[in-house]
Amino acid sequence: MSTSPIPNDLSAYWLPFTANKAFKAAPRLITGAKGQFYTTADGRTVRDGFSGLWCSILGHGHPLVTEAIIRQAQALDYSPAFNFATPAAFELASRVAAQFPAGLEHVFFTNSGSEAVDTALKMALTHHRARGEGTRTRFIGRVNGYHGVGFGGLSVGGMANNRKFFGPGLPGVDHLPFPYDPTLDAFTRGEPQRDPMLYLKELEAIIALHDASTIAAVIVEPMIGSAGVFIPPAGYLQKLREISERHGILLILDEVITGFGRLGAANGASFFGITPDLCTMAKGINNAAIPMGAVIASRQIYDTILNATPTGVEFFHGYTYSAHPLAVAAGLATQQAIHEEGLYEHVARLAPLFEEMLHSLRGEPYVTDIRNLGLAGGLTLAPHPDGPGLRGYQLFVKAYELGVAIRSNGDTIAIAPILNSNEEDIAQVIELVRRALRALA
Ligand SMILES: Cc1ncc(COP(=O)(O)O)c(C=O)c1O
Repeated sequence: MSTSPIPNDLSAYWLPFTANKAFKAAPRLITGAKGQFYTTADGRTVRDGFSGLWCSILGHGHPLVTEAIIRQAQALDYSPAFNFATPAAFELASRVAAQFPAGLEHVFFTNSGSEAVDTALKMALTHHRARGEGTRTRFIGRVNGYHGVGFGGLSVGGMANNRKFFGPGLPGVDHLPFPYDPTLDAFTRGEPQRDPMLYLKELEAIIALHDASTIAAVIVEPMIGSAGVFIPPAGYLQKLREISERHGILLILDEVITGFGRLGAANGASFFGITPDLCTMAKGINNAAIPMGAVIASRQIYDTILNATPTGVEFFHGYTYSAHPLAVAAGLATQQAIHEEGLYEHVARLAPLFEEMLHSLRGEPYVTDIRNLGLAGGLTLAPHPDGPGLRGYQLFVKAYELGVAIRSNGDTIAIAPILNSNEEDIAQVIELVRRALRALA
């Protein structure tokens, strides 16, 4: 077996969400990472301008996290997830729950954001059935929403390329409109100041059409992340909470990106000051060092589901690796580091500076829009004459060549600095993106 860091045959591995032919013609092979930087197989250093995939919030190889995983692997590699538990899993659940608004109390572990979303949808259905409202089976998602790649998440998600190949998905799903208008909102800093009812009238129309008694839940990201960082108008989430509550429709916030500090608060629910019924999370929960996701449910949802089944299993759902001991160990270490480093406050302090630096890209070649919230930044680029998506991909490749990893989705670019970055780290990321934009011109 070859021990070379450069494989001599790239054919067997089928990469996810990747142009495989293009990648294999010019692979980007990562062999190491420490702090803010990757090392590549050809010996280069590349700055991480995207926190892995929004997930390595403390930077790579954080010593607390790495050591916790090593210790855990030596002590207990695995114990069954069903009918057994480790003490540490209870501790992590409590630490996570303490960071969500009061009333959100019970944490169910998964291994990814996609699984967290499907779990939350199932909880919503089970909850309604348990309280004698089994007619509530419909879901409402949002155009350009991303909720992972399970058939549930796909169905409530709203990114056409992720949906169009896979058939009709879950029945009974409607979508709220995309709450962002580039002609009116371009280059807005933070939240656009416009009437959120512009986009939420549709919710009332959907409810009028199907009747609330058929609708289980509405699911949205607090900030649209994967589609390219789009921030709904101020007051949108508060209004959504108000309308959903009025109609007995559960509100699920998908916090896979916004959980654990991205906005300068523990999560989007806290940042926007609302209490949803369910929140999904993953990524930053354990610095992505071992796959992990989770759902937090309200006391009311948990109690309703448990009380409906006097004996035996109350919720027929779970994963072999739910609360995997290594993932939990990484989670506890991550939560400790978040606390010790005052990470959320740090992000809140850094966010205005990030906003300033990000918006300094206005006027650079092809930039038609810039958006930001917390330490999340989005650009839209003018499409290449040869087709949509090409410009975004070209910028991603050029940025990597120049030494920074960012993310493109079509012609949108997302920048997500590692949350414990300092000012200089942020400045470096932005300058490398600027150089990449200029190099494309
Ligand atoms: C909001 C949101 N939900 C769900 C997911 C899916 O998470 P995973 O890739 O861990 O399945 C993502 C991934 O980026 C996400 O951003």
